[in-house]
Order: sequence, then structure tokens, then C-alpha cells
Amino acid sequence: MRRKNEEVTVTERDLELEVQALARRIADAGGDQRARVYRMSWWSERVLAWAMAHPDFKTQLFRLVDVLPACRDDADVLRHIEEYFEGVAAPKALDVGIDVAEHVPFGAHISAGVARRNVLRMAHQFIAGASPADALPALERLWHRGEAATVDLLGEKTVTDAEADRYADRAKELLETLVAGSAGWPERPNLERDPWGPLPRANLSVKPTALSPLFSPLTAAEGLGDALARLRPIVALAREAGATVHVDTEHDETKDLTFELVRALGAEFPDGPQLGCVVQAYRRDSFDDLRQLVPWSAGALRRPLQIRLVKGAYWDQETIVARSEGWPAPVFERKAETDANYERCARLVVDHAGSVRPAIASHNVRSLAYAVAYARQRGLDTSALELQLLYGMAEPVHDALISMGLRVRVYAPVGALVPGMAYLVRRLLENTSNESFVRHRFAEGRDLDDLIAPSGVSELDLELVPQPRPVGATDPDKPSPFVNEPRAELRRPRPRARLAAAVGAAHGALGFAAPVVVDGRELATSDELVSIDPAVPSTVVCRAGLAGPAEADR
Ligand code: FAD
Ligand code: 2OP
Repeated sequence: MRRKNEEVTVTERDLELEVQALARRIADAGGDQRARVYRMSWWSERVLAWAMAHPDFKTQLFRLVDVLPACRDDADVLRHIEEYFEGVAAPKALDVGIDVAEHVPFGAHISAGVARRNVLRMAHQFIAGASPADALPALERLWHRGEAATVDLLGEKTVTDAEADRYADRAKELLETLVAGSAGWPERPNLERDPWGPLPRANLSVKPTALSPLFSPLTAAEGLGDALARLRPIVALAREAGATVHVDTEHDETKDLTFELVRALGAEFPDGPQLGCVVQAYRRDSFDDLRQLVPWSAGALRRPLQIRLVKGAYWDQETIVARSEGWPAPVFERKAETDANYERCARLVVDHAGSVRPAIASHNVRSLAYAVAYARQRGLDTSALELQLLYGMAEPVHDALISMGLRVRVYAPVGALVPGMAYLVRRLLENTSNESFVRHRFAEGRDLDDLIAPSGVSELDLELVPQPRPVGATDPDKPSPFVNEPRAELRRPRPRARLAAAVGAAHGALGFAAPVVVDGRELATSDELVSIDPAVPSTVVCRAGLAGPAEADR
């Protein structure tokens, strides 16, 4: 069977055989996989293994990891441990016959110092260095072993302008350090060129929510303006130094604004530097976004936009927010759908390689193999695809891709622990998730054939529109026909426009009365609630009647 509009002569079946063969080669070339996945302490590995089998413990563990760097002193750490783990089955068995300080699990025996040290070691697995200068040797080691890098200054979602200024200054400093530090590295032709020209050694990834506290839908114009103002000097430096600036994609509500930011940068810097953005294939609208980004890149930029295709790092948060609000989830809710959409998106970026520079970011050997096999079948040179992995994740996959002569780039975070906690928690979630390839392959050693089988999801399935799920009754033991109306989804443009129009139209009618109504009839009451416009407190919006016990009884 052929896909619509496809000119290649190969069949889907040939492609599938090639994908499976390549996925097996990548898996085999990684060597003794389970032995080399974590560089954490014995304690951390055991604690994570326990967390995978005990969801309650996992929740509390990640809460502790998140809060630990902000704890004031040891007493504060111990208080958190006691509160979080009270009544939760903890891995007591782990302390049997083990040297004390390093290996004691949570529970009454743990010392605050041990907890801190072990969380720091967990973090070091995923962070290249605490400062730009610290990180440089690690980045150089990557280069020597055959991997380029994109550096990310840890930090996201700033809440003050001063914090955003600091992030921008440090990101610039990180780029300057990398430009200067990488100049003397030996030449690596396969990392420094693709069919469309030279590829910079220095490559910076930035998180847009760190660039402005207002980077969100309700303050879109201000957030975009502020983010652009802070990013401009960094991008100008990148143009001068011949470096790449890559804008990461974060939560749902900032995705559209992020692409606007990329377009605004492209409009100001059409001749370079090399720009990049990220498309998250777990999003239902990602394929449509790609279809718009590709022609934009072809028309607006001299250097094709690098598109990093990921599955997406915020799945838990996106689904929990949507469920709790009664909104439709913006992401697929079955892992197989995300996997299928990833392959559909990979085909699109490969089909348009040259209009964009495709970067395939995944630790899943099937996803990687799919993109490489498809590119080969389209007759593209190996250098046309960049494969991207995270620092400290799935090490055997890094080794395998390098040994196969593929072009690999590592996303290497740099910075301090406190701004890095959200990043660390996302990595821990990713390593321990029930749906994670890394967990299935490296922690559980599952059968490779199952892991690299096709998703079984069709393109038509991917187009199905999910229905919003109403938020259930507050008390599940007392079913009621009443359910709350979900709040308007103001992160979307249409409800925002409706609200703005309604507010505009309401002006003449403000100060209206909303009396108590019983049995269809308005009642006068002695008490009232006066609502004012919080932005203009002199404006009364409404006077609402307040019912008393008598009206309530009626
Ligand atoms: P797999 O185990 O195959 O996939 C796991 C992923 O599947 C989850 O992360 C989630 O996206 C999805 N998933 C899990 N459960 C379900 C479910 N029930 N239903 C539907 N989907 C599900 N992420 C960003 O969001 N923004 C970025 O800018 C970004 N930059 C990155 C840069 C690089 C170089 C790399 C390697 C990753 C980056 N990531 C980014 C993180 C990336 O999204 C995760 O590492 C990735 O999702 C893990 O997918 P996988 O293919 O490695 O593993
Ligand atoms: C994250 O910050 C890697 O961008 C990805 O989780």
C-alpha cells in the first residue's frame, strides 16, 4: 500500500523491514545495555527501581527531589522526608548488609546529608556542568567521542523581569564561552556539514518562558516583545560568531507564542544565524504546525530552519491540567498514537529536507531507525539527518549511533541545581514512566521485538477529535446530575476573542442587578454582593442578591 502523493517506489512493507533491521542494529551496537545506563549512586538506582514498582513512593520521591535544593538546612530536609514518606512503603530492605552512609534508604535512618548528596548525584547524570566554564570539558569530551552539542542554560518560567534579565545575560555568556572554547577543537567533518552547508559548533537552546514572565497567552503581545528584546542580543552574537540559536518548545499554552517568536526572529534575521525550533509529536496539532513551518522556512530564511522533532516532555502535566479542568487534552492519550504521529511527522520533515533541516530527537531505537530508514529510501545522504539525544540518557544508544557514523547532537544542560530541578524531575519521570522506551529497554530488559514493533495506529486514527471529559461530581459517593461547567479555555485564541468581545459589549450594561431567583421568580433580598472590576475598582460590574436560609429552603 502506498501513501497518498508519494513518489517513492518502495512499499511500506520494505520500509518496515528496513526499520526493524536498523533498530536491531542500533540496539546491538550499544553493547551491554543494562550495565551502562545510569552513572548514579547505587542508592539512587535502587530507589528509582523501587519507585518504578511503587507509584505512591515515586510521587513522594519526586516531590522531595523537587524541594530538596530549596530546603534551608538539614532539619528542614528531615521534616520534608518525614512528611512526604509517612505511611508510604519505602525500600527498607535496601539497607541490609550495606555500608551505612551511602546506602541507607529513606526512613528513620536517613541523614539529610545523604539525601542531598544522592539527589546531587542524580542531577549530575543529566547536567553537563554547574557553569559554562565547568561544562566546557564535558562538551569537549563529547566532541572527541563524536557528538556535537546544543547547550541549554537551566532555568524556565521566570516570574520577575530581573530574573529574566539574568537568564538572558547568562545564556549569552554560555554562548560566548562555547564559541571561544570550541574554536580550538579538532575538525570533525561529519559534525560540521550537511548537504545544505556548514553547521556551527556552538549551538544554544533557549527556553522562551525564561525570557519573559509575561510569556503566556493572556499577555501575549507584551511577552513576545520582552522575549524578543532579551533574545535579540543573543541572536546578534550568534550571527556574528556563526552559531545556532534554537528555541525550545515547552507547555501547551506557550506553544503558539513560541512559534511566533521564531517567526519574529526569522523576520529580523533572515540571513542568519542558523535558527531552530522544536515540534512535539505528542501534540494533536503538531502535524499541522509542521505543515506551516516548512513553507515559512523555505520562504523566509536563507538557512533552512532546523526542526527538532521530539515526542514531548510535558505529557503528565498536559493531561493532568486538561483532565482537572474538563478541557480536551491537546496531546494524544495513547503512547502508540504519539509514536505513530512521530513517524508521520518524521516523514514530513524528511520529505522537505532542504526547506528545513530535520533533527530527530529520541531515545527510542525504533523512532530513530524509522527516520533514518525513511531518509535512506528517499535517497537522502546520511548527513541530511541529525539525530539528537539528551545528555546522560540512554548512553548505549549514543554509542551505537556514533559507531554507525550517524550525525549525533547532545542536548547538554548547564547550570545550578535549583533552576534545574524541573528539568531533573522531567528526566526522572521519563526514565521511570510506564510507557518509556528507556525504562522498558534498559531497566526492565524487555524483548526488543516487542519494543520495535509498529504502533498499529493508522493516520485516520490520528485525525480523530477527542471529546472533552466533563469534570465529575465533587463527591464520588453521592452521584449528582450536577457537574461543573468547565472554565473557558482562555489559553486558546477563540475563547479569548469571545471573552474580549463580550467584555467590550458589556460596557454599557455594567452595574446590572442579578437578583435571587426561586421557582422562576425574582426575589428582593436585604443583602447583596457587589462585584467590582478589579482593574478599575470604581466600576461596579454587578449587584447580586444574597439568599438567606428562607430563600434557600424555598
Ligand atoms: P519513548 O519512550 O518512545 O516516548 C516517551 C514519550 O511518549 C513521552 O515523553 C511522551 O511524549 C509520550 N507519551 C508517554 N505516555 C504517553 C501516552 N499515554 N499517550 C501519548 N503519549 C505518551 N521535549 C519538549 O517538550 N521540548 C523540547 O524542546 C525538547 N527538546 C529536546 C531535545 C533533545 C535533543 C531531546 C533528545 C529531547 C528533547 N525533548 C524536548 C524531550 C523529549 O520530548 C523526550 O525526551 C521524549 O519525549 C522522550 O521520547 P523518546 O522517543 O525518547 O521515548
Ligand atoms: C526539557 O527541558 C529537553 O527541552 C527538554 O525537558
